[in-house]
Amino acid sequence: MSRPYVIDQMISAKSIAARIEALAREIHAAFDGTDKLVVVGLLRGSFVFIADLVRELDLPVEVDFIEASSYGDGMVSSREVRILKDLRGTIEGRDVLIVEDIIDTGHTLSQVTDYLRSRHPARLKTIALLDKPARREVDFKADWIGFEIPDAFVVGYGIDFAQRNRNLPFIGQVRFTDKPVNAA
Ligand code: IMP
Repeated sequence: MSRPYVIDQMISAKSIAARIEALAREIHAAFDGTDKLVVVGLLRGSFVFIADLVRELDLPVEVDFIEASSYGDGMVSSREVRILKDLRGTIEGRDVLIVEDIIDTGHTLSQVTDYLRSRHPARLKTIALLDKPARREVDFKADWIGFEIPDAFVVGYGIDFAQRNRNLPFIGQVRFTDKPVNAA
């Protein structure tokens, strides 16, 4: 049986919504005049973020998804990133925004960015809702970050712990406890 844990709210749904509005304005300015922006979500953690972000973007957008191997069901990052599901569409000569839920060691987003850059998009930018700079193992900086957070394991707003808690509307920190609890 997994260790019992509780979830302490770290970032409210309201703060996330306000931050996404501000980020959308910056993205709009950066890609103003684009023919069509291909917004690429990294499955599965970005699905809530990308849904809210594209609805704030007043630009012609196409949505595509890519899936890379990451934590599996654990809490430890795998350094070798494999592409499990590739894009459906072509990005050559197109403007692309890669959307990630959280940057931890940096391996996933840096390797996915290199992979997509090799397909010669016109412009390629990256955004992550959360960033844990203290955990970085590779030198990678996204173009936009929603919130910098400390070295904590978080869930909610699309982000899971062993496939649970993605449906929480806020970002919460996992705190293990010895007392039995009903984790959501
Ligand atoms: P990185 O390759 O170490 O940067 O890890 C990025 C991926 O690890 C993210 O897309 C998440 O799937 C996962 N991850 C990193 N930190 C957390 C966390 O605090 N909670 C849940 N998943 C996380």
